[in-house]
Amino acid sequence: MKKYNKQKVCIQGLGFVGSAMAIAVSNALDHQEKNYFEVVGIDLKSPIGINRINALNSGMFPFGNTDPKLNKFLKKAIKNKSFRASADNSEFKNAQIVVVDIHLDMPFKNDEPKLELDGFKKAINTIGNFINEKCLVIIETTVPPGTCSEIVLPILRECFIKRGLDPKKIKLAHSYERVMPGEKYYDSIINFWRVYSGINEESALACEKFLSKVINTKKYPLTKLSSTLASETSKLLENTYRTVNIAFIAEWTRYAEKVGIDLFEVIQAIQIRPTHKNIRYPGIGIGGYCLTKDPAFTPAASKELLKENLDFPFSKLALRELSKMPLHAVNRMRELLGGSFNNKNILICGVSYRENVADTRYSPAELIFKEIKKEGGNIDCHDPLVNYWDEVKIRIKNTLPRPNTYDGIIFTVPHKQYKELDLSKWLSKHRNAVILDGFMIWDKKKRNEFRNNGVKLQSVGVGNGL
Ligand SMILES: NC(=O)c1ccc[n+]([C@@H]2O[C@H](COP(=O)([O-])OP(=O)(O)OC[C@H]3O[C@@H](n4cnc5c(N)ncnc54)[C@H](O)[C@@H]3O)[C@@H](O)[C@H]2O)c1
Repeated sequence: MKKYNKQKVCIQGLGFVGSAMAIAVSNALDHQEKNYFEVVGIDLKSPIGINRINALNSGMFPFGNTDPKLNKFLKKAIKNKSFRASADNSEFKNAQIVVVDIHLDMPFKNDEPKLELDGFKKAINTIGNFINEKCLVIIETTVPPGTCSEIVLPILRECFIKRGLDPKKIKLAHSYERVMPGEKYYDSIINFWRVYSGINEESALACEKFLSKVINTKKYPLTKLSSTLASETSKLLENTYRTVNIAFIAEWTRYAEKVGIDLFEVIQAIQIRPTHKNIRYPGIGIGGYCLTKDPAFTPAASKELLKENLDFPFSKLALRELSKMPLHAVNRMRELLGGSFNNKNILICGVSYRENVADTRYSPAELIFKEIKKEGGNIDCHDPLVNYWDEVKIRIKNTLPRPNTYDGIIFTVPHKQYKELDLSKWLSKHRNAVILDGFMIWDKKKRNEFRNNGVKLQSVGVGNGL
């Protein structure tokens, strides 16, 4: 068998999380500035998987983004031979560590969340069929509570027994990702706090050792929780807390617009109280792969995995409320256009779910696009980072079009390019278009400056003309 000086780490799943994690692990250095790990990123042989593998092997991060560190450190890792990507599952054979970063969707049946674990189970089964007895498996995928003990461990046990390996030797840990795609994408992995746990002390210790080599734990210490169920719950409560708080502000957003106040001004006043610092600002809803599904995992898993018949009214209500928020932007724009979108030319600026990323999964813009189209509007879309909008199947303009043909322009994402845009200059003499700012891209001072130049600008969460 080939001898590896560096520890071999396989990262399963080269999506938004796995690709970035693979780059971070392959750039972890020991005190002599030597790479700790040889990293192999593994994805499926599907067209998407192969595209991601090819992009990474050619030194290109597979997703549009605004963090130059990703491509820089990817190229460095390829040059140092500390990273490669592959679709060959036999790479798991001699891995000392496997990090699971595949996706796990949360479908709804008759408005109720229902676990769908087949793809995830298959991926764990693949690992179990190849790894050796000494390998540590770390689950980073966001999973329903109970998954490590009720799903992952039994699958690994069964595989080990079939292969004549000792199931008592299985090392399994859980450490969820807090990666934040955007300008600080790379740093949000290595310079950020992490939570971890293991199915036993040996697993937890091995996970701690691994994370300490990748993450700047001197500045961002790790938090150990006493069971995998606790750390799985920690991820879900963390994201549900954010979702519920965003949803809560949705009703105040509608209120502020109706009664004619500026909710940003109100919230800034409240934030002076140290206890209320993290109160959320108005917007047009949430999007992306995490907040739109994570609050549904615990309601479903408590019934299906943990056999507890508990209700989660806040979590469910938050998701329902937020799914309506993009329609609030549509209603506001329709009103500003005099009651109809029929034959109106609309420009949507920003189709990703979040600023400075190219991820379009569950973006609020999707619902806005579909509703305006249904109501007879003609739509163009711009996004500085997205070339093709997969969910809607259209090409996206990367250069801001001339504004003169549009009746209405909705800014749905606070991308850097929009924040820096001088609306008066861009609109030039064509100031008839109604502009709706969905995420306070422009503050009160800027708003007044543009309005004084004749720009018809309104903002979500702020009464007309304020
Ligand atoms: N995107 C984020 O910002 C973010 C942040 C924190 C946590 N998370 C969580 O991390 C996990 C991954 O999210 P993502 O956004 O990277 O998902 P993604 O859909 O972008 O990537 C998942 C990848 O896994 C691959 N995959 C699926 N099954 C596989 C298998 N059997 N073998 C090898 N590869 C396989 C897919 O082909 C895909 O490339 C999710 O649980 C998500 O909730 C995401």
